[in-house]
Amino acid sequence: MHVVLGVGGGIAAYKAAELARSLMRQGYTVNPVLTRSACEFITPLTFAALTGRKVITDLFGNRSADEILASSVEHIQVAQENQVLVVAPATADLLAKFAHGLADDFLSTLYLAFAGPVVLAPAMNTNMWNHPATVANMATLRARGHRIVGPDAGELACGTVGPGRLAELDQIVAAVNAAALNRDDLSGEVVLISAGPTQEPLDPVRYITNRSSGKMGYALAEAAAARGARVILVSGPVHIPVPPGVEIVDVRSAHEMRDAIVGRMDEASIIIKSAAVADYHVANVSPNKIKKTATRLSLDLDPTPDILAEVGARKGDRLLIGFAAETNDMVAEARRKMQTKKADMVVGNFVNVAGTGFESDLNEVTLVMSTGETVPVARATKREIAHTIFDHALRLRLALHASQ
Ligand SMILES: Cc1cc2nc3c(=O)[nH]c(=O)nc-3n(C[C@H](O)[C@H](O)[C@H](O)COP(=O)(O)O)c2cc1C
Repeated sequence: MHVVLGVGGGIAAYKAAELARSLMRQGYTVNPVLTRSACEFITPLTFAALTGRKVITDLFGNRSADEILASSVEHIQVAQENQVLVVAPATADLLAKFAHGLADDFLSTLYLAFAGPVVLAPAMNTNMWNHPATVANMATLRARGHRIVGPDAGELACGTVGPGRLAELDQIVAAVNAAALNRDDLSGEVVLISAGPTQEPLDPVRYITNRSSGKMGYALAEAAAARGARVILVSGPVHIPVPPGVEIVDVRSAHEMRDAIVGRMDEASIIIKSAAVADYHVANVSPNKIKKTATRLSLDLDPTPDILAEVGARKGDRLLIGFAAETNDMVAEARRKMQTKKADMVVGNFVNVAGTGFESDLNEVTLVMSTGETVPVARATKREIAHTIFDHALRLRLALHASQ
């Protein structure tokens, strides 16, 4: 997917270079457009080198009429070839131009020609931000449905303290993801997700764990954030980056996972338990490293808390979704789990099918729902499966409310 990264002439322009990298890491092709003023703060060469793309700084350039027309009308072409326009930093000047439809340079002309979703990340001095002119311009741009990210409050480059700092880059990336998806059906929801494995210690240096990579839970977190939800991700130890815009709560053991989930569940409207929580923990964790001997060593294991059952017992009208990783009788096992734990949906998946399940980027699941419906979901990426789970979860909630 192609996005235009518009860069205005503010102190925060240097952060746009890192933003370009972050967007590329999400898989976007980033086409930079710098205003003339932006070029005073950061060079087009930086963006060309980072993105490998042509950097546009000028409506006409130093070109003849023939050259301009030979390359077709560039602002129209760029408007058609990109799916999202993100402007960061959006200067007071750019906000004024956009609000009033002025088109005296490439970026403002492109803005008028662009029919897709727009993300604006303003950054400026606090007085400029609070000026009635900027306040009125922002009201106009908000009413137009653009996604506005920030500005954050804090100490600004000019020395003042207050609102005006460019939003955190992962918040801007999250807004671009949401704009690219163009679906806000989880807006207003708080989605609490558990992901990854747990580690149950034996002694200070060893632990028991499982093969969960966390990829499914992280895909769910990314999908929920992209669809407008506030996402709290309670994660066991994994090696994948936190999706942009997602609040992370790191835990290790099943007990820590339980405390984090139960502690945050009141905030949530949807709870998804995708973590592979250990069923047992070591009863007597050795305070010292267990020494190697020639004799057999036995471990006493106690059951860990049943988090899904505890959440199910006090979930109220929250939607609760569990996961069942099984090696046989998957649908029956998922249904049993759903009924005994009072979940609304259990996502069943075979963990012994080659190329899916733990560690894989793909999955193949069956959704077992409390309405009695069973939906097989064909093999797809975990990101696609995550969206399918939310599609069905929203439908399920409507059906459950209608039947009450
Ligand atoms: C050192 C310096 C820093 C500036 N920082 C900002 C800023 O952070 N935000 C802003 O809106 N304008 C800032 N300005 C003013 C803009 O550069 C000016 O309004 C310019 O016309 C914006 O052009 P553009 O919107 O086409 O990029 C700054 C100017 C200077 C000289």
